[in-house]
Amino acid sequence: MVSKSYYDDLDALSDRICEVLIETVKKNRRAAICFATGSSPLLGYRKFVKEVIDNNIDVSGITIIKLDEWCGLDMTNTATCEHFLQQEIIKPLAIRKIKYISFNSKAVDFEEECEKIKSKIEALPCIDLTILGIGKNGHIGLNEPGEFVVPEIHVTDLDAKTKTHSMLYNTSNVSKGITIGFKDILSSKKILFIVTGPEKRIAYEQFLSLNVTTQNPSTFLKLHNNVECIVDNNIS
Ligand code: F6R
Repeated sequence: MVSKSYYDDLDALSDRICEVLIETVKKNRRAAICFATGSSPLLGYRKFVKEVIDNNIDVSGITIIKLDEWCGLDMTNTATCEHFLQQEIIKPLAIRKIKYISFNSKAVDFEEECEKIKSKIEALPCIDLTILGIGKNGHIGLNEPGEFVVPEIHVTDLDAKTKTHSMLYNTSNVSKGITIGFKDILSSKKILFIVTGPEKRIAYEQFLSLNVTTQNPSTFLKLHNNVECIVDNNIS
C-alpha cells in the first residue's frame, strides 16, 4: 500500500523526513536504515542530524546502508554518494565503520563488491527503513528503466538521463552505477519515497497512472505494503 501526502514546500516535506527517521531510531535503537543521496532528502537529513545532536538521541546502535554509488570515481570525489553520506550523516553522527555498509566506488572487482555488500545485508535482522528519491526517468536507487529489473544488488549501465544527474555535473565518463536491487528495497519494513523537483513530474505521473512496469522502476514500489510517498507540490 502506498500512502501519499503532499507538502507546500521543501521545508515542510523535510520535516516529515526528519520525523520518520527520528521515529525509526527511537523505536529500534539497532535499526538498519538504507539512505538515498541527492537533493531530495538532503534538507531532511540535515534536520535529522540536528535533532539527534540537539536532543542527544543515541544512534550508536543503528546501521547505515548506502543505497547506491557511481562507479569509477575516487571515494573522496565530492560527486560520490560516499562523500554525500560522509558529510551529511556518517561524520556528524559519528557512525562507526562497523555500522556502515557502503559500496566502494572504485572497487577493483564490482561483482565481488556486490557479493560483499549482499552478505553484509543478509547478516542484518532486517532493513527497517529505506529512504528513496525518484529519478527523472523513474529510476529508484540506480535501478534504471529497461527491459527488466535486476532483483539483486548489481552493477548497471546508466541511462542517458541519469548521466545528467546533478551529482555528476563536475565529472566525466561516469557510465555505470552499483545499486541495491528491488529484492532488498521491497524487503524493507518501511519505505519513505520522496518526490521533489519539477523535473520529476512526468516520472511521478507515470508512477501514479501505470501498472508495475520496468519502463518506470518506481512503479515496483506499488508491490510493497508500507510505502509513505511524500510529494513537494512544486513538482507541477
Ligand atoms: C541517489 C539515488 C537516486 C536519486 C534520484 C533523485 O542515491 O538513489 O535514485 O534518489 O536520482 O535524485 P535527486 O534527489 O538528486 O533529484
